[in-house]
Formats: sequence, C-alpha cells, structure tokens
Amino acid sequence: MNISVTVFGKVNIDTFLYIDKLRIGENHLCLKTFTDIGGKGANTAIALAKLNVPCELVATVGNDSISQTALKRLEKFGVGISSIKSCEEQIGKTFIVVESGGRNTMFHILGANAYLTPEKVDWTFLESCAAVFVQLGIPAETAQEVIMMSKRNGKYVFVDPAGFSESTDLQILAYADTVAPNEVELLKITRETEIEKAVKKLLNIGVEEVLVKLGRRGANLYTEKASYHVDAFDVEVVDTTGAGDAFNAAYIFAKLNKFELRDALKLAVAASALVVTKVGSSSASPTREKLVEFLKLKGEERLAKAVLEGST
Ligand code: RIB
Repeated sequence: MNISVTVFGKVNIDTFLYIDKLRIGENHLCLKTFTDIGGKGANTAIALAKLNVPCELVATVGNDSISQTALKRLEKFGVGISSIKSCEEQIGKTFIVVESGGRNTMFHILGANAYLTPEKVDWTFLESCAAVFVQLGIPAETAQEVIMMSKRNGKYVFVDPAGFSESTDLQILAYADTVAPNEVELLKITRETEIEKAVKKLLNIGVEEVLVKLGRRGANLYTEKASYHVDAFDVEVVDTTGAGDAFNAAYIFAKLNKFELRDALKLAVAASALVVTKVGSSSASPTREKLVEFLKLKGEERLAKAVLEGST
C-alpha cells in the first residue's frame, strides 16, 4: 500500500452508556449502550481511511481476543495495521457516559497504549509517507521523537495535543506544522489564561497553524499572517465523541489536497458535524461520499466538488 499518512495514537475499546443526565453519587438508568473501536489514533486512522486516504496506524494493543477483533476491524476499514505491536497488557479501554444533548464524560484505562515506546516504532515510515499525525496521549518520549524526526524528514506534521501531561515540554510542539487543541487543551498546554496569548505562544515557538476546536461554535484557525473562523453546521447533536478526530482527519485530507486554509477548516467542521449526529466514536465518522452529500445539502457545492475530486 502507498501510505499517505502515518498515524501515531491510542487504540481503545470504547464502552458507551447513554443516560439522560449524569448525577454523581446516584444510580442511573441507561437508555442505550454501545461498544466501538476508539482512541484518537484508531479514530483518526479510520476517519482517514473512510476518506480514501491510505494510512498506517502505529500503536500497541494487547495479546487478547478483543485486540484481535480490534485489528480486524481496523483492517476492514482499510487502515494499515502492520506497524501495530502487541504486548502483555490489556487493550486500552474507555468508558464513556453520554448525556442527552451529547455531552460526554470519559474514564480511561491506558492499558497497552502505555507501551508504545520509541523501540516499538519501525522508523522506516519516514521513507514512505507524506504526513504524520501524532496524539500526545502516547508516551511523551515517543511523541517527541516522532514529531522531531518527522519534521526533520520533511513530513507535514499534525499534532492533536489531547493527553498532554504537566511534564510534557511545550517545545516538542515547535516541530509541528499544525497543532489542533480545543480551548481547554490550548490553555493547559501553553499554561496561559487567555486564548489569544496562548495562540501567540504556539506561533512564536514555530507552530505554523493553530486550529482551535470550539464545539458548537465551530472552529478557528490561526497562522502568523491570518486568522479564520468557521461556524458549526446546524445539526442535531446526539454524541460528540470522536468529533475532534474526524475533524483532524478531514483537515489532513484537505492539506494533502492543497485546499485553501478556509476550505480546509470548513471541511473539518463539516466532518465533525456529521460525527455528532451519530452514536459511537470511530463508527460515527463520515465516508467521503457522505461528506460530499452533506456539503451539497448545506449549499457548499464548490467544496463538495473539490472533495469528490480529491486525489489522496
Ligand atoms: O477522541 C475520542 C476518543 O477519546 C475516544 O474514542 C476514547 O477512546 C478516548 O480516547
């Protein structure tokens, strides 16, 4: 397979509990439950594959049968799995409580994800792909080395800082082309209290683009020279899990296809809009056809045509 994007991130089994409203310390009646393959690595890779972007996932899973099922499912979606290593740990797990209206609360078991050390990485990916996606929830030294080596080897480097820990050095983001946090993550990673100052800090250390996910308010994109805002599309919100991951994938698709920045931002917002209308995480991301259909429905004919004709 000719790989366009190498994805470094977590693989989880997500267990969803849909309830009306979360009240700590009380009993709840579940309206519905659902199980899905999750983790930002798996979600982003699956979302890329659904957009027909050839991608390879670098991750660690367990030695158990659930891990095998997860691998088969990733493969079924078209994700390259030959760089996924297994270890003597349980696969990562996330328990997700989703309230009516879509808000979620997560409980994580890191499991095998904690074992994605630099020694587990097959560095030949540097010879093949055009772009690299890294989430910071994997061990910090791996994220750091992958980001630096990818940049030095001329890759487009996209970082989702979710999972950034207090001990992570902000300087590792200096090698990223695009950093895509939500507002809470942005303030946390920069240790700032104002969005503008936080964005400036990232641009000043060398990040080319700061993409800020604003949920129901859409998203902003900042570069040294300009800033852009795109409103969220008006959709019925069922479950917001995985919206940021489909956003990342659609933005990477747009960058690989050399879209204008505003169009790339709009496409990312459109992909996340489709995710929130569905239950689950990786299952909820749209195929390229669904994205084109949605853009047409929303009157975005020109962008829909560009997505349809995209080569990646
Ligand atoms: O971004 C959503 C993901 O975050 C979920 O799939 C869950 O596994 C958590 O890692």
